[in-house]
Amino acid sequence: RAVPVICIDGPTASGKGTLAAALAARLGWHYLDSGALYRATALAARQAGVALDDEAALARLAAALPLRFEAGRVWLDGRDVSEALRSEQTGMDASALAPLPAVRAALLNLQRGMARLPGLVADGRDMGTVVFADAPLKVFLTASAETRAERRYKQLAAKGISANIARLRDDLQARDARDASRAAAPLKAAQDALALDNSCLSIEQSVQQVLDWWQDRQ
Ligand code: C5P
Repeated sequence: RAVPVICIDGPTASGKGTLAAALAARLGWHYLDSGALYRATALAARQAGVALDDEAALARLAAALPLRFEAGRVWLDGRDVSEALRSEQTGMDASALAPLPAVRAALLNLQRGMARLPGLVADGRDMGTVVFADAPLKVFLTASAETRAERRYKQLAAKGISANIARLRDDLQARDARDASRAAAPLKAAQDALALDNSCLSIEQSVQQVLDWWQDRQ
């Protein structure tokens, strides 16, 4: 029996992770945060002193990531990297190495291997266009740049980190521009993706919308 996959793709800080994790919990399915793999590769590179443009060395790191997800924490080579993984710097570094085809190829099997019964909710940039191109439901999640910058600002504030909203908005737009303009698996909606703008929706409303779409497909 084919494993059902729901793909949630979209720009930086659009709420993909929150939506995908909530959906997985509601459906009792597995959850793949594909961005974490690119982020972990960036952290592993920094640890090993590998430059972010050394494609062959980065691909070797990506192919053998000593990564463990456990009880909401992420471990890289036995070190708890949960906080380091989420930092803005790590996001930028991940976006710098993500265009490299050998790195993307090295992470492909790892991602596809996460598709297990009863199902998988996967979030990222190319879940619907490349990694799970046959998925029965693909969502392209967006929100205005202002909304996304505001959400990021509140997330940081909750952690006691001060930030500048305008600067956050510029940074996330720069990251989106890089993700959307690269040749390999650029950020874009799959042809058969359903668009969801959650600027004015609560998390629960977004979850319900996707669950309704999923019901319609049964
Ligand atoms: O989603 P997140 O912010 O964790 O992703 C970090 C970076 O990893 C993105 O800006 C993007 O460059 C890259 N990425 C990707 N393909 C994915 C997920 C993330 O290229 N499927």
